[in-house]
Amino acid sequence: MGLDDFKENQEKKVVDASKKVRIAFIGCGWIAGSHIKALLKQPDVEIVAGADLIPGKAKAFFEKYGVENVKTDYASHKELLADKSLKLDAVTICTYNRQHAQPAIDALNAGLNVLLEKPFTVTTEEAVEVMRAEKKSGKILSIGFQPRMDANMKMIKKICQSGELGQIYYIQTGGGRRRGIPTPFGTTFIEDETAGLGALGDIGCYSLDMVLNAIGYPKPLTVSGYKSAFFGTDPNYSNYVKIGHPEYAAKFGVDDFAAAFIRLEGGIILDFRIAWAMNLDTPGDTIIMGTKGSLRIPSTECWNGTVGGPMVLYHEVCGEQTQTEIPIITMKENLFDLKIRTFLDAIKENGTAPVPSSQILYNQAIIDGIAKSAAVGREIEIEIPEI
Ligand SMILES: NC(=O)c1ccc[n+]([C@@H]2O[C@H](COP(=O)([O-])OP(=O)(O)OC[C@H]3O[C@@H](n4cnc5c(N)ncnc54)[C@H](O)[C@@H]3O)[C@@H](O)[C@H]2O)c1
Repeated sequence: MGLDDFKENQEKKVVDASKKVRIAFIGCGWIAGSHIKALLKQPDVEIVAGADLIPGKAKAFFEKYGVENVKTDYASHKELLADKSLKLDAVTICTYNRQHAQPAIDALNAGLNVLLEKPFTVTTEEAVEVMRAEKKSGKILSIGFQPRMDANMKMIKKICQSGELGQIYYIQTGGGRRRGIPTPFGTTFIEDETAGLGALGDIGCYSLDMVLNAIGYPKPLTVSGYKSAFFGTDPNYSNYVKIGHPEYAAKFGVDDFAAAFIRLEGGIILDFRIAWAMNLDTPGDTIIMGTKGSLRIPSTECWNGTVGGPMVLYHEVCGEQTQTEIPIITMKENLFDLKIRTFLDAIKENGTAPVPSSQILYNQAIIDGIAKSAAVGREIEIEIPEI
């Protein structure tokens, strides 16, 4: 097997441009820009509407990207969804975390396919409510984890699924930044009432998805979690000082570091840590340990699917301990384009969600479990209501 076997996504599909997908935006902020750029490259999309809670923001957004004939005169996502003249097939939900669940539920109840940005929601209970609406609607709900489309992430999964590692029993994952609390266009990432989660939900969800998807998303059972916010709440935090906004410290209501010890079904231990800011280069590589072999994945931020260097497989050959380097695969295609394309294909081909909620529910349950365990200061059982 050669490395080209992992490049299947780099081949372009022929798209039937005569069959258009009519799509609307809910939330027209920062990440909506990546969605619209990717959507505009697709020959089979009509962007017909957009809503944002901030008056005038949706209109300005479409003007910025030169998209005409888009209806934007809605005070809320509910008004947009009630406009049957739009004849929508789908919405892309690009709202901040606390506004993921309700628009997703409303859009599914309106019979639309939904691409929902990550993290899934803030709490497990919200994710369950969204999934109940998904089940009732029979529509596609895909969660916006673009690293899933990356050839290196697929390689990690293939190695884990191949049996090359034997029985997997211990995983360490996470990552982070030395100084990287995201405040690109204000404070929606750091205020509790908009974000609800800090580093844990923002980049932690990617690290968790990288390893959990690789090993087939076993159910999380218990978690002992920790959260802190030493950097974000400090007006002298160097990046606030650099951008001239020391007052952001008083608005900071989420975590900038989180760590946890999680027990997964199948006797697997997951050791996790994630940082938006720390006095360290990395909190450690990702390691996946098995009875026959182990994989080291150099530390990464994960959000764009990149890994920090070649991966190394530690195993035995003829009784001798050896190492095999797994080179990095450079992707030709943009991961956002693939995220959008796979969602459109699923709609047009009556397929299934590229990143299904049934998997990301466990990602969310871990994140929520860490928050809840940190609040009570002890290990807790992870409870997931029936859908
Ligand atoms: N996939 C990625 O790589 C990636 C990168 C950045 C952000 N994100 C995710 O995207 C989401 C949005 O982040 P952002 O940086 O674009 O935030 P943002 O604050 O720039 O934009 C969010 C917009 O949503 C609007 N909004 C909120 N609730 C709404 C509602 N009910 N109806 C209509 N509009 C509503 C807000 O007014 C705001 O303009 C977050 O959940 C974040 O985690 C994903």
